[in-house]
Amino acid sequence: MSSFEYRNGRLFVENLPVEEIVEKEGSPLYIYSKKALVERIRAYREAFAAHPTLVAYAMKANGNLAILSLLAKEGAGIDVVSGGELFRARKAGVPADKIVFAGVGKSREEIAYALKEKILMFNVESQDELDHISEVAVALGTQAPVALRVNPDVDPKTHPYISTGMKKSKFGIPVERAVAEYQRASTLPGIKIVGIHQHIGSQLTEIAPFRDAFDRLLAFHGELSRAGIKVTHLDLGGGLGIRYRSEEPPSPADLAALVLPRVKDLGVTLVLEPGRSIVGNAGILVTRVLYRKNTAVKSFVIGDAGMNDLLRPSLYGAHHDLLPVKETKGETIKGDLVGPICETGDFLATDREMPDFAAGDLIAVMSAGAYGFSMASNYNARPRPAEILVDGSSYRVVRDRESFEDLIRGERV
Ligand code: LLP
Repeated sequence: MSSFEYRNGRLFVENLPVEEIVEKEGSPLYIYSKKALVERIRAYREAFAAHPTLVAYAMKANGNLAILSLLAKEGAGIDVVSGGELFRARKAGVPADKIVFAGVGKSREEIAYALKEKILMFNVESQDELDHISEVAVALGTQAPVALRVNPDVDPKTHPYISTGMKKSKFGIPVERAVAEYQRASTLPGIKIVGIHQHIGSQLTEIAPFRDAFDRLLAFHGELSRAGIKVTHLDLGGGLGIRYRSEEPPSPADLAALVLPRVKDLGVTLVLEPGRSIVGNAGILVTRVLYRKNTAVKSFVIGDAGMNDLLRPSLYGAHHDLLPVKETKGETIKGDLVGPICETGDFLATDREMPDFAAGDLIAVMSAGAYGFSMASNYNARPRPAEILVDGSSYRVVRDRESFEDLIRGERV
């Protein structure tokens, strides 16, 4: 049973009508389902149960403390990409030895912070970064556990902005240079080699790119062993897609079926970094229609949520289904759902067949749990929405709606 479904014509999140939550908490509003989150993290844990595996949730998808804490209680670790994310993970009670740290631009301060926290490993993206990590570790009198992120040059067949494992991308160390870089790493003071890392992109809807990348990773692992360098961790990154519209992405079980038979004798712990596939379909953004406006060529539904609340349609041309919070059987229109921001690129849907919404109606923008709130901004001085976590028949506000005072915090004239 899905966590988001109609009962007697009303959209529910678990056992609560969306309309009731919005009446109390206002709009726009992010609403997440605890049940959906738990199901998704368990799907990974169960699929990989036969092998030592750390599921390090990629918190860039959604870093709300309540979500992090919930996933940590389910045994998840966290993949962080900044000092701020590390701080969030620690505040949510995630053990440091379940945290991995990726990203091409780690500063010395961030490196020092992560070393002091004693994280599981740094996923290193360049020679220069490796040198920095070595220097900072030596200065702190410690050893930095590292994996090098190997760029396998595989096309993940997804949106170009979220493809990361191709030659032309800024991520990782080209596979043909990687053995030499590991050999150099093994001579650097303050560096302890623990793993190999790979991540080829996000919203992958086919298994083939995973297979190609994994083949290359295993070949590389063999090459590295023959060069006398042993690792204890293989980090396969994230990237499993979700259904936004009609996609049929591989499941965690499909990924496990690909990976597990081939790692069982390698003596390594697997690390996975799923983000979107944990939270994407566990959340919605609810917007209230403010106005209708028809021009000679277009119908506009103007809602109270804009690109600052959910950037994905504007930035990637991403599709999010729109569901009426009260089911309608009447006329449909073809139009754009737009927001209040002063930009033509401010839309949540374009040329979309949708109910003939009227002012006051509520619309659920589906699949908004991942890269929704986490990419929200205060553009046009708009306070960011509240976030709600539903658990059965009750809910909690897990982040307050921002106030005008929040908007100017820290500024002075
Ligand atoms: N690990 C690394 C190193 C990553 O760069 C990413 C995502 C992940 C894991 C998690 O990938 P996922 O399982 O969520 O696909 N804002 C974009 C997505 C950017 C993804 C960036 N990296 C969007 O809204 O589609």
